[in-house]
Amino acid sequence: MKMTREQKYRFLEEVEPAELEQLQHKIDASLWRQQYHIQPTMGLLNDPNGFAYYNGYYHLFYQWFPLGTDHGMKYWYHLKSTDLVNWIDCGIGVKPGDWFDSHGAYSGSGIEHEGKLYLMYTGNTRNTEWQRHPYQCVAIMNEQDQVHKLDEPVIDHVPSGYTEHFRDPKVWKDGEFFYCVIGAQRSDLTGAIVVYRSSDLLNWELLGELKTGLPKFGYMWECPDYFEMNGQAVLLFCPQGVDAKGEQYRNIYQSGYVSGQPLQLPNLELSHGSFRELDYGFDFYAPQTAIAPDGRRVLVGWMGLPDTAYPTDSHGWAHCLTLPRELELRDDGILLQKPVPELALRRGTKVELEDTLDQARSSYAGFEGIAYELDCQLQLHDTDAGLGTLAFGIELRAGEQERTILRYEAATRLFTLDRSLSGQPLAEEYGTVRRCVLERPLDRLQIFVDVSSVEIFVNDGEAVFTSRIFPQQSSQGIVFFAEAGQVKLHAQKWEYPSK
Ligand code: FRU
Repeated sequence: MKMTREQKYRFLEEVEPAELEQLQHKIDASLWRQQYHIQPTMGLLNDPNGFAYYNGYYHLFYQWFPLGTDHGMKYWYHLKSTDLVNWIDCGIGVKPGDWFDSHGAYSGSGIEHEGKLYLMYTGNTRNTEWQRHPYQCVAIMNEQDQVHKLDEPVIDHVPSGYTEHFRDPKVWKDGEFFYCVIGAQRSDLTGAIVVYRSSDLLNWELLGELKTGLPKFGYMWECPDYFEMNGQAVLLFCPQGVDAKGEQYRNIYQSGYVSGQPLQLPNLELSHGSFRELDYGFDFYAPQTAIAPDGRRVLVGWMGLPDTAYPTDSHGWAHCLTLPRELELRDDGILLQKPVPELALRRGTKVELEDTLDQARSSYAGFEGIAYELDCQLQLHDTDAGLGTLAFGIELRAGEQERTILRYEAATRLFTLDRSLSGQPLAEEYGTVRRCVLERPLDRLQIFVDVSSVEIFVNDGEAVFTSRIFPQQSSQGIVFFAEAGQVKLHAQKWEYPSK
């Protein structure tokens, strides 16, 4: 049943315990609860927020609407971890409800300053005519993880030339100054990013709009993130309103990056190459990065999309975060994404196999399950040289009627993820297959399966496919196949026990 606006914009304290209990019962009965991904205790999770290493821990927050799976009153929910694998539940981080965030504490970022973690976020407000006015706000967290919001926003108006869609500040430090990028919509209804500067995170000076080579690319840009690696600049952002083009931009909204020369100040010019999607799967949005103490740049995304119905909606909960990924930037500006090595901490029982598949389909003892890591090293040999029909694939979560199919075609280097038989369908109007052409022949697949998701890292981070799937619990098989040729396969699989 759809919630009314009044129901969606209640605070947790206004809710009768019986209502929360009822919601909890629904969630407890859901067979699609994840085993090792970060998921909401109840209600809806969306963007990762405030991701930062501070005071000996990675702190990670997420957008949270506790009362259902609509987008309603958003809180920041807080988790922390020493290893990016085992997360401590810290409860609510930022609570909305002041005049500057009366209708939600929207997305933002975290940065350490003078021994505290500064959280800069968008306060969402609506007036009695339901007009939106966003404020950019700061909350300060101390070493005891206590969060205090400032009494007033630090940026209290939208600069002229932009609509009320002005949000998601991401802060970084360069030399003496802090900078922040904010996702925006121009008054002519095109997407943009606006840049501010501050010396203390409290007083912000508008520098202007980031000058990119994409002046008209969708109607709104959400969740920007700017950083530099190996002397190059990377700008992540989520454009909304970009049309599909061949195999590109197939999801309702996109999430991608451009890379190029470091941002030029004061003219704010960013010269860069083409926009590339970060993930080729069905469910990926609003990623955010943080720097690990050893200097690695780690990314976490939302494994979900706005304005899309999911099969768990009727179970009182929706979405999860992706596993953390380590970013590497190649000299040619291409980002590689690899699962962080810390994930090995979760590994349980191991099985291993070596085999040569010759135009065959094979299953192996111990290769099955609903929550595991599967690492496959591959050598493909075309026995019919010249015919070019060699293909290799894996079926995951395979059962009587169900399977999630990965397939690679050697001749075209086309890699496909097919979820048309993955179980309960979703978002079918956006298609049930995602594809990308690999740069080099397939030689490695790292696959993370959880109860209702798959994350597939191809060729050591060249491409990632992240997707929710909703199969029956009994669909647990793994089937390897080779068509028209030979594939030498070395596979290792580890169970991933519950958190
Ligand atoms: C992206 C987004 C952000 C906003 C937040 C609200 O998914 O729309 O732009 O801050 O979600 O929850």
